[in-house]
Amino acid sequence: MAGADLGALETELLGEIASAADLAGIEQVRVAALGKKGRVSELMATLGKMAPDERKSFGAAINQVKTKVSDALDARKALLDKAATAAKLAAERADVTLPVRPGPMGEGRIHPVSQVFDEIAEIFADMGFRIAEGPDIETDDLNFTRLNIPPEHPARQMHDTFYLKTPGTSLTGEKAPFVLRTHTSPVQIRTMMNQKPPIRIIAPGRVYRMDSDATHTPMFHQIEGLVIDETTHFGHMKWCLEEFCKAFFEVDQVKMRFRASHFPFTEPSAEVDVGAEAIGKPGQWLEILGCGMVHPKVIANCGLDPEKYQGWAFGMGLDRITMLKYGIPDLRDMFNADLRWLRHYGFSAFDVPTLAGGMST
Ligand code: PHE
Repeated sequence: MAGADLGALETELLGEIASAADLAGIEQVRVAALGKKGRVSELMATLGKMAPDERKSFGAAINQVKTKVSDALDARKALLDKAATAAKLAAERADVTLPVRPGPMGEGRIHPVSQVFDEIAEIFADMGFRIAEGPDIETDDLNFTRLNIPPEHPARQMHDTFYLKTPGTSLTGEKAPFVLRTHTSPVQIRTMMNQKPPIRIIAPGRVYRMDSDATHTPMFHQIEGLVIDETTHFGHMKWCLEEFCKAFFEVDQVKMRFRASHFPFTEPSAEVDVGAEAIGKPGQWLEILGCGMVHPKVIANCGLDPEKYQGWAFGMGLDRITMLKYGIPDLRDMFNADLRWLRHYGFSAFDVPTLAGGMST
């Protein structure tokens, strides 16, 4: 091949490279020129049949073309790469300083009970509690018997229990009637049976009792607390509950009254009232929870040694304190799924309660 032809080939290839529009195009040109069967490579293969002198000069000329083409390919590829990245960045650009667009997240409302649960979880998490859960359908064994409420105990009637038609199986394998749990206390049992002390949990959830009027709904919410270790005592419980009330009602001082009471699963037991000045109604007391030292029989019922372990528990009505804190007048409205009510009393999904940022924002 003559030098002029080589020059023409070089011009042609450089032209193709310059007009390659994208990375795939560049690759095509590369294969056609420098690939195994490429035009430059094939020229190289002809060198073997040439006379030594001719081979020397022609070989150098081809090598020059090869280097030029290869450099041009690299340069063009780098340019196209850069352009592709720039185009991608431009297309995916997001202005994070823009306000949130009105949309499902902005429109939707968090139910006050969910919001209050988040607030409570935040407060107790700060004191080292974890969250535990149990099912809404329990056997009467967990809901009652292991909590030291034997069959025929009047507390079973007091709880106005919903029984299920089909019997279930208790944790230890025997047949036992299924009930809709009447309180969150069975989560105490589940936790003590499955976890080694020290235990510090809160357990929120739905509970059910056959009851319906202005202050009672057949389904309502409780939050259970349980602390078990070798030394914790009634004084720790009082402190914890007082700290909780101050954080929850967002006040520096809160008046609390522990009234002696009775629960089969705690001894001694108390019911706790808070002074209603915390919610702007001085002079009144509001009952918010039941509590007490976990009964040694209950500890033993869960396979723990009551000589070694002791602890305390409380059960709080979530709906009640939600109504108190946010001035909601009628309990039944809480569960009517009325959008107008939810828009009025509900919370934005962005109002996440934190101890630092504020509970009720
Ligand atoms: N489970 C009790 C109730 O529903 C409340 C409670 C829980 C009392 C834990 C003492 C300890 O009324």
